[in-house]
Formats: sequence, C-alpha cells, structure tokens
Amino acid sequence: MHILVITPTIFSLLMIFFIHRTQSAGICPSFSCNHPRKYFPIHFPFRVPRNQSKRCGYPRFDLSCSSDRETCLRLPSSPSEPLVIKEIDYADQIVWVSDPNGCVPKRVMNLNLTGSPYMSGPYSVEYTLLSCSGPVDPTQLPAGSSVVRCLSEQDFTAVLTFEKEAEEKLVNLKGQCHVTKRVVAPLWWRGLAYGVYPMDMSDVLIQLRWELPGCGDCVVRGGSCGFIGDSGLDVGCFLLGGNGLSPSYIPGLPRSAKYGLILGAGMPGLLFMIGLSFYLSSRVRAYNQSRNHANAESSSTITPQPIILTLGLDDPTIESYPKTVLGESKRLPKLSDGTCPICLSEYQPKETLRAIPDCNHYFHVECIDEWLRMNATCPLCRNSPQKSSENGS
Ligand SMILES: *[C@@H]1O[C@H](CO)[C@@H](O)[C@H](O)[C@H]1NC(C)=O
Ligand SMILES: *[C@@H]1O[C@H](CO)[C@@H](O)[C@H](O)[C@H]1NC(C)=O
Repeated sequence: MHILVITPTIFSLLMIFFIHRTQSAGICPSFSCNHPRKYFPIHFPFRVPRNQSKRCGYPRFDLSCSSDRETCLRLPSSPSEPLVIKEIDYADQIVWVSDPNGCVPKRVMNLNLTGSPYMSGPYSVEYTLLSCSGPVDPTQLPAGSSVVRCLSEQDFTAVLTFEKEAEEKLVNLKGQCHVTKRVVAPLWWRGLAYGVYPMDMSDVLIQLRWELPGCGDCVVRGGSCGFIGDSGLDVGCFLLGGNGLSPSYIPGLPRSAKYGLILGAGMPGLLFMIGLSFYLSSRVRAYNQSRNHANAESSSTITPQPIILTLGLDDPTIESYPKTVLGESKRLPKLSDGTCPICLSEYQPKETLRAIPDCNHYFHVECIDEWLRMNATCPLCRNSPQKSSENGS
C-alpha cells in the first residue's frame, strides 16, 4: 500500500524539479486582424510585426493585416502578392490560404515555398487544366469540371477537371479542348473528404503546413508555445500553473513539446505503473505464500482424493456397437423420425449410423461416437450400455 502513497510524492517532487514557474514573459497576448466574418487568433509562431513585439513570433512567420482586415501571409518568392489566411490549425500546424484575387488555380501553379517555413500539405489533389477554344457553356461541362475564368482569355476558356473521365470526354467529344497542364496541388474545399467536387473554384483553398517550431503537442495539451528566455530560438510550452495565475514552462527540447509531454504525462504514468506492478506482485506473492502455507497444512491432515471424471466408453467398446449404412429408402428399425437426436440433422442415404445395442436407438456414427467417448449412456433413454456389456461378458 505504501508504494501507492510514495508514487504521487515522487511525482510531485519531479514536477517541482522539472517545472519552474516564471513570469508570463514567454507569452504574448494573441492578436487578430478582426475580420468581421472570420475571427481567428494570431499567436506564436505567427506574429503581426506592426502590432506585436519581436519575441511574440518565430522568424519567417510574420503576417500582416490588410486594409479590409484580412490576415495576410507573404511568401518570400512573391512578397508583392500576399495570400489571405482563412484558417489556422495550431494543433495540426496547418494554415489554409486563398488568393485575394480569387484565382487559386493560378496561385497554386506558381506556388514557390522556397525560403518560407511552409510546405505543401497534408493532402494533395490532382487535376487537369484544359484549354478550350472559344466560349464554353459551364452548364454543359461533365461532372467534376468547371470553367476557370481567371485563367481564361478572350480566345480560349480554361477548364479544370478533377475527373479523368471528364477530361477524356472534353478532349474526345468536343474536339476543341486540349490538355495544358496536369497539376498535383495541396488543395482543400468543403466536401473534399466526401468526394464532392467544388461547385466554384473560388471556394477552394490552398493548404500549407509547417513543422518547426513544433508546438502542436503543446496546443493539444491546452498550453501556449513561446520563446524561453529573452534571446535565442529555444521554444517551450507554457502551461497554466496550479494557481492559474502564472504560466509554467517545461524546459527541455527547444522546438518540441513532446519532451514536456513525456515529463508531464509519461513519467508520472510510468512511476505509477511501476508502483502498481510492485504492489500487485507483492500482493500476488503474499497470496501465493498464504495459499502454499494452507496447502501444506491441509496436505498434512487430509489425503487429497483424485478427482474422478465421468468417463465415456473406450474406442474398442464403441467400435463393437453395430453400424448400419443407410440405403436409399432410409428405412431402419426403430427409426421413429428421420433425424439424428444428437445433431438434429436429417438422415441422408449412404450415411452411416450406429445403434446402441441395449435400447436399439440409432444415431449418426460421428455424433454417437463423440457422445459415447464422454458419456457412457444412450442420449435418448439414458441406458448405460457399458454396464449391460460388462454384465454380459
Ligand atoms: C496595429 O498597428 C497599427 C499601426 O500601429 C494600428 O493602426 C492598428 O490599429 C493596430 N491594430 C490593432 C488591432 O491594434
Ligand atoms: C522560388 O523562389 C526563389 C526565391 O525565393 C527562387 O530563387 C527560385 O528560383 C524559385 N523557384 C522556382 C521553381 O521558381
């Protein structure tokens, strides 16, 4: 029992040892561009340099607010053309962006993530861009394809299709479209998971993800990521302290809160399991000891009796009982109804039956042999054939 008391004590000591309380220095209040329809907080690793101090965000994660209060992300490859952030998933470290000019297919074609902390992901969608001469009636397009106005020119219409079949239809039947580009892009739209194609390409978003700094685990635990200390790029996970006033951080691996997870949940869990297994094994040992003791005592006074199981008949005895192969007529003496009382299946021509000599009851040979090996009585009348055969011999 004492182990169970000691474990939480060790756990508390460890927590005190590993977790230092700090001032709220590492945490910046979250910010927002306050878009009237789409609110999401901007916090570490993101930062709006204009409104937040330098230590509020990780390098290269700078964002800005547009005049119409959209949150903008600029890639180093095209700083003059910002992307608009539509959603940030801090736990999975994914950001959904769209093109402010509403031409995601164009942006995704020239997506150059060099120099940015982002990569494509996590899903990829394949589609084909076609160029069709002259105007195209959007209502006449096959399923899974749509007109892309922003890529169309006066003399051709750009058509995008997610369906190979639709692509073939467009090329073969119309005779006026040809494939310009096959694209694999990190696109996302509502309904993607259900295999529903976007009605309008302006509903489609580009999905980007980032790996470093890895704050996903921290966010999942309800913590906030931030820099540890006033300089350097070491990142820690700030969890709300016991009194709810000061955040605490778990120093450890700089960029990942995984270590914190191990300390926070793994170590006490492990210690608890060790304690529990010690406790249980000591209980089992004590139980076995007391049982052995009792057995030793009882064996000195009572001679153990061998357990006698109700035994069936041996194979030679069973084999000595008459067998009959059923003919086409299935006629047998005393075969009241046409089913075997053991397996309840109907007797079929050519099946072998066995009879119990004393009562002349018939059964399938497989069924009665199995039965007689375990029971020395007729399953119907409970006569014991063994007794009679012993009497007879
Ligand atoms: C952000 O900073 C700019 C310029 O300093 C200021 O005009 C703007 O109001 C600030 N935005 C918020 C939401 O504080
Ligand atoms: C991507 O952008 C970088 C500069 O940011 C440039 O050096 C590189 O050539 C570009 N890559 C492509 C494929 O355009």
